[in-house]
Amino acid sequence: MTALPLPPVPTRVVAAPMAGGPSTVALAAAVGEAGGLGFLAAGYRTADAVAEEVGRLRATSTAPFGVNVFTPVPAGSASEVRAYAELVAPRAAALGVELGKPVHSDDDHAAKVAVLAGLRPAVVSFAFGLPPAESVERLHAAGVPVWLTVTSPEDAAAAAAAGADALVVQGWEAGGHRGGLSDPEPAQLGLLPLLALVRRVTDLPLVAAGGIGDGRGVAAVLAAGAALAQLGTAFLRTPEAGTAPVHAAALAEERPTTVTRAFTGRSARALVNRATTELSGAAPAAYPEVHFLTQPLRAAARAAGDGEELHMWAGQAHVLAEAVPAGELVRRLAADAREAMAAARF
Ligand SMILES: Cc1cc2nc3c(=O)[nH]c(=O)nc-3n(C[C@H](O)[C@H](O)[C@H](O)COP(=O)(O)O)c2cc1C
Repeated sequence: MTALPLPPVPTRVVAAPMAGGPSTVALAAAVGEAGGLGFLAAGYRTADAVAEEVGRLRATSTAPFGVNVFTPVPAGSASEVRAYAELVAPRAAALGVELGKPVHSDDDHAAKVAVLAGLRPAVVSFAFGLPPAESVERLHAAGVPVWLTVTSPEDAAAAAAAGADALVVQGWEAGGHRGGLSDPEPAQLGLLPLLALVRRVTDLPLVAAGGIGDGRGVAAVLAAGAALAQLGTAFLRTPEAGTAPVHAAALAEERPTTVTRAFTGRSARALVNRATTELSGAAPAAYPEVHFLTQPLRAAARAAGDGEELHMWAGQAHVLAEAVPAGELVRRLAADAREAMAAARF
């Protein structure tokens, strides 16, 4: 089957989907209006809430946008989750809350795909491996391009065979969850080698993600063969993003990041804090059970402005993130990328 084409993105800048608060209708609209591709994040929301957000976005902007959906993953070990619950219970108690119920869930996957096949956004991207074949078929039948996230050349070959129209190539530098097929042993390839290795196995358009923090980074991935650059962390401090204030402030600090399962049970890159330091060695591979287990604890920490118990997702270039309006950021990234391309000509 011929791949469905990319939507027009004059600036080549995609604002990554960021579930759990940061992605908002206002952010997607501002990015789209500036000539980028905005994304809504369907993760952790109901199918009805996703439909409502799509409606609000369409009422605000006529620009194309994408929606990102999680792929269901297998359940983890119940006994490992119980042991982890014992370890984190005192931390919840210290914040005056009880731990949540560590349930397994498919995040309403099929219902969201059905809703999106009806609403037909410009793109539906998936994180956490290959979605069920019916999901891809349903979206294709509605004419909706499907982007699959990959973190290794093996992922890329599998995603191409599964009918992807483009690949979101996520390097090890990236903030947030590892989006590919491999967890609990995530592939650790940096973005530049990953782009080159993925290109050996497929001709599909590549959307490069991970550690891109400025226009030079955008230029670098375009020169490395990507069609588009997808940035997440760079947008976290824009006023349109729904980032927790304590998280937005911490991004500006010179501090390291680490890849940890401590907060959700799935590997994700976050700013180092007390929780990552004390819990990363013990956290089981059990997503989303650990997400639901620690959710009340993290919500309490967020409300209290406590950055030590909160998951503060961040890519390696997080100090480059600026508190500027998202539209201005998109325009500046594109202008700086053009300048960097011209300067690099030889
Ligand atoms: C706060 C945050 C939330 C994220 N949530 C999602 C998500 O819901 N779905 C997804 O596919 N990727 C998600 N990601 C990963 C991004 O799609 C992207 O791979 C990453 O942001 C790129 O690296 P960068 O943050 O260094 O730009 C998230 C990233 C961050 C920082």
